[in-house]
Amino acid sequence: MKGLVTPVDLIELSRVDYVYPDGTRALTDIGLSVGAGERVAVLGPNGAGKSTLFQLFNGLLPPTRGTVAIKGRPIEKAYLKEVRRMIGMVFQDPDDQLFSATVRQEISYGLLNLGLSGERMEEVIAWALEVVGLSSFENKSPFHLSGGEKKRVALASVLAMKPQVLVLDEPTGALDPIGTAKIIALLNCINRELGITLVFATHDVDCVPLMADKVYVMDKGRIVVSGSTQEVFSRKDLIRAHNLRLPRVAHLAELMERDGGCRFPTTPLTIGQAKRMFLEQLAGSKK
Ligand SMILES: Nc1ncnc2c1ncn2[C@@H]1O[C@H](COP(=O)(O)OP(=O)(O)O)[C@@H](O)[C@H]1O
Ligand SMILES: [Mg+2]
Repeated sequence: MKGLVTPVDLIELSRVDYVYPDGTRALTDIGLSVGAGERVAVLGPNGAGKSTLFQLFNGLLPPTRGTVAIKGRPIEKAYLKEVRRMIGMVFQDPDDQLFSATVRQEISYGLLNLGLSGERMEEVIAWALEVVGLSSFENKSPFHLSGGEKKRVALASVLAMKPQVLVLDEPTGALDPIGTAKIIALLNCINRELGITLVFATHDVDCVPLMADKVYVMDKGRIVVSGSTQEVFSRKDLIRAHNLRLPRVAHLAELMERDGGCRFPTTPLTIGQAKRMFLEQLAGSKK
């Protein structure tokens, strides 16, 4: 009865608390689910608990209460190795992730651990570097690269392990505008072309509509609102009450409705959406 089988979530958290050994309560009553192929943002101000949450996804931290299940099975010791293959973790600061003398060695490290060698390993290294657009960087030292390039090397080293989910802590953090645009395009391409599920943490509200289908907003260790990207950003007061803001174009649209007599069918969240809606307004006002 194939049609009746409900797909199991890749990541599912239920009633999860996490308290650090020093007594700091970082997460309270977290419920969250990530389905295959989704792009999920965890949005929250600094200190909200995003990085702590992400460390629970692959068993780096065990929940103090509640369950963290991957593909329907709670994480426990005997499952850890498999979980870490399925969930690829890209840290916020590439300097925490990179440690090898060359980009090539950096990517080969995990592959050697998987038992790959020779031609097969070379193929995977070449593939991962091509995906992130750093094919000519194989023999460079990761430490001499720009911030954006370092992030892409860290991403390549995780991608090489062929994970089903990429978990990225602040993927656009500390990048310049071009580096930010590049990483957003790259992650969307990885999701679309390779079918890899994306979960990312950010406090950058402008990047969320460009790379998320679903958003969980966190503050002080709790999820305060969740839903589709459009739903979440329509809760304007709630977003602001939790030390966040609307995407810039949504703010502009709000002011144009308040002071300019505009009426938009939904809040535009990206420049592309805003452009379309403003053109429609202009066309309407000329009639
Ligand atoms: N190793 C730790 N020991 C104790 N408290 C910590 C530790 N790491 C983070 N915290 C605390 O947990 C809370 C959530 O931090 P974090 O998960 O880093 O938030 P975010 O990534 O959203 O900025 C903060 O209050 C922070 O001070
Ligand atoms: Mg963090």
